Amino acid sequence: MLGRRAREVFGAEVMSIYLPTCREVVATGLPQHFETHFPANGRHYLSAVFLLDPEHYVNISVDITERKLAVAQLERRNAELQQEIQVRQGMEAKVRRLNAQLEERVRERTAELEAANRELEAFSYSVSHDLRAPLRVIGGFSRALLEDGAEALGAAGCAHLDRVCAAARRMEQLIDDLLQLSLVTRCELRREEVDLSRLARDIAQKLQETEPGRPVEWCIAGGLRAPADARLMQVALENLLGNAWKFTARHPQARIELGRAEGAGRGAFFVRDDGAGFDMAQAGKLFNTFQRLHRQEDFAGTGIGLALVQRIIRRLGGEVWGEGAVEQGATIYFTLAAQTKT
Ligand SMILES: Nc1ncnc2c1ncn2[C@@H]1O[C@H](COP(=O)(O)OP(=O)(O)OP(=O)(O)O)[C@@H](O)[C@H]1O
Ligand SMILES: [Mg+2]
Repeated sequence: MLGRRAREVFGAEVMSIYLPTCREVVATGLPQHFETHFPANGRHYLSAVFLLDPEHYVNISVDITERKLAVAQLERRNAELQQEIQVRQGMEAKVRRLNAQLEERVRERTAELEAANRELEAFSYSVSHDLRAPLRVIGGFSRALLEDGAEALGAAGCAHLDRVCAAARRMEQLIDDLLQLSLVTRCELRREEVDLSRLARDIAQKLQETEPGRPVEWCIAGGLRAPADARLMQVALENLLGNAWKFTARHPQARIELGRAEGAGRGAFFVRDDGAGFDMAQAGKLFNTFQRLHRQEDFAGTGIGLALVQRIIRRLGGEVWGEGAVEQGATIYFTLAAQTKT
């Protein structure tokens, strides 16, 4: 290339791009850095021009086309990502809006349900309450008639009236149960540290006094304490231990236990007996109002006890569940606030 002019080597187009800068370098003596693009071959160059001596300058150019393309591609991908982010943010905002609407609706429905529940409770309370008076009249006059008019009534008449009295007593029991159920949900909670062991020992003693000769081994763990409401826990334990006492009555010997579970369900309290037990397939009905898994002739009851227990335990922020097997006893577990079923 020596001895030839730059225009001859690089061509007119290249020189028309470089020459103005080269002239400036010659005029000012200051080096220049710049990027150029040649439409003819579509390539990009990074060039540096500086003076070698007053009469010669040097131009060094590096092909940066690949780098430029990579940068352009990165910018495109960035723009795409930006767009994707915007779409996602839009979707997130939509989900948040929907969630907020849903929460609002749940709040409204819960408030409606709570109001309806309160109304129902008040209604069932006053109905049960108002039903008592006429029922007492029916029972009272039937008994009076049985006592004073037995002769006139004859044997068949007395038998019929006997059944009226029995039905009135049963209805009175049902109403009492309904009232108690309603009271358990309506009464004010009084939170305190409750000594479950002591409550259970007193209840066990009273149960045993109803039939002192019954061989029942009571195993009540000591020191069982929990934050609860003493009156409500008294009702719950009376029902749980009462059930254990009742459903072991047909076994020659029995063992009734109050303790705290280890392993699965750890921390939960439990009342266990080795009595009649029940079929686990029916366990779903245990806590339903007026539902019983045993026949009235085998074990008397109205089927309200465990419904009461469930309401009490739930009010105290816990859970209750049962396990059993036919003729192998039953265990009712319950947690109180801050405990969990595992
Ligand atoms: N310890 C238990 N062993 C076997 N079955 C039980 C036990 N506890 C409850 N059950 C079953 O669950 C049913 C419901 O219990 P719940 O205490 O509600 O009613 P109840 O004892 O029959 O009547 P009530 O408690 O109203 O006098 C019982 O009828 C019985 O079939
Ligand atoms: Mg019961």
